[in-house]
Amino acid sequence: MARAILVLNGPNLNLLGTREPDVYGSDTLDDIVGDLRTRAVERGVELRDIQSNHEGELVDALQEARGWADGVVFNPGAYTHTSVALRDAISACGLPVVETHLSNVHAREEFRHTSMLSAVCLGVVGGFGRHSYALALDGLLAHLDG
Ligand code: DQA
Repeated sequence: MARAILVLNGPNLNLLGTREPDVYGSDTLDDIVGDLRTRAVERGVELRDIQSNHEGELVDALQEARGWADGVVFNPGAYTHTSVALRDAISACGLPVVETHLSNVHAREEFRHTSMLSAVCLGVVGGFGRHSYALALDGLLAHLDG
């Protein structure tokens, strides 16, 4: 059966392209997800994407993904560093989730060095700009293919 992947993006990622381009690059979220979709189609993978600035909506998306997705590429934005609710949702959904960041959070402010989520994720990718998403998708699919 064909694989299905959720690409989930958290707060302020809707502003990519204009948001701190020196840190996050000049590609928009549509550019990034468009690339990922092409990559997924080539591999016969269904990809759905959701962006929300609201923690509860991200929790809802993870809960609903249980019903249809095989895994999640998730850039939780700033909630990475704060959210017990998202950590619990990742654990509860039981799906492999790849924590994904455009920037290398460990080379930035100290408060970004802590992730509430990494310990319950399959893996973490960061620091490669838009390529972080492609690497996360490849890693997730390799994991699912065993
Ligand atoms: C980010 C890193 C986070 O620290 C930050 O709050 C973001 C984006 C990244 O993709 O590099 O919003 O997740």
